[in-house]
Amino acid sequence: MAFETLLLAMDERIATIVVNRPDKRNALNATVRREIVEALGALREEREVRVVVFTGAGDRAFVAGADIAEFAERTVVEQRGVMEARTLFEEVAACPKPTIAMINGYALGGGCELALACDIRVAARSAKLGQPEVKLGLLPGGGGTQRLPRLIGTGQALRLLLTGELVDAEEAYRMRLVDVVVEDAELTARTRELASAIAAHSPVAVERIKDAVRASLEMPLSAGLAHEREAFLAAFGSDDGREGIRAFLEKRPAQFQGH
Ligand code: COA
Repeated sequence: MAFETLLLAMDERIATIVVNRPDKRNALNATVRREIVEALGALREEREVRVVVFTGAGDRAFVAGADIAEFAERTVVEQRGVMEARTLFEEVAACPKPTIAMINGYALGGGCELALACDIRVAARSAKLGQPEVKLGLLPGGGGTQRLPRLIGTGQALRLLLTGELVDAEEAYRMRLVDVVVEDAELTARTRELASAIAAHSPVAVERIKDAVRASLEMPLSAGLAHEREAFLAAFGSDDGREGIRAFLEKRPAQFQGH
């Protein structure tokens, strides 16, 4: 696959999507959005791909938000058309494979929302995160008012959303906005370590776990627990589930086949 605004790297079972507009701090223009959706669509179908990592090119930014220059050119009607189509953020959140945001610099606005749509957020110590849309007289349009409070609570979410203040990685970690903070030089290695640990497991179990946790955000506890039971039974009945149990009892590493 060739892209104008992305680099796509495959290493073992880990795919990395790199937003590649470093001169524009990897801002999300229409081409980036379309290409991420295309890349994800293709990666979903690749059995060998077990984890998808998102990051930004260069050493300044993960993604510095929506492309503000594009905003300037659009009417409300045109913007509605863009937002009513299934968005990049929905596609990322709906990806059945685990996703990791490897935050290597500014993750602002749509960049923070891209990270929020991912399953796990790993940040370099020098990264900065925030939702500064309010400073433009706008608000987040990629899930920032919805996913952020679910993740960090309404008080902290509103602090970030209403002030537009940025937080550094350490503070983001304390707020649970990011899950892991590492020294800049260790960002790739630590992310890879996490991705490899996930990729070594049965994709049947991994995808069911992700699905069940995501479902927990959408349903009452009783429905969520019923959903979990069905997910457990599906994994239990899978070849990988049988293999995992046998391997433990036979004191050998499991050989998962992915079904
Ligand atoms: N949309 C479009 N272009 C952007 C952009 C964005 N979100 N963020 C950065 N750029 C562009 C700048 O316009 C500049 O382009 P130019 O060289 O053609 O003038 C280039 O990227 C470099 O930006 P600069 O501000 O010089 O880099 P910096 O490293 O000093 O600062 C940021 C980086 C991210 C702090 C700063 O660019 C910024 O605040 N960006 C906007 C963030 C934002 O409000 N996002 C929410 C959008 S809704």
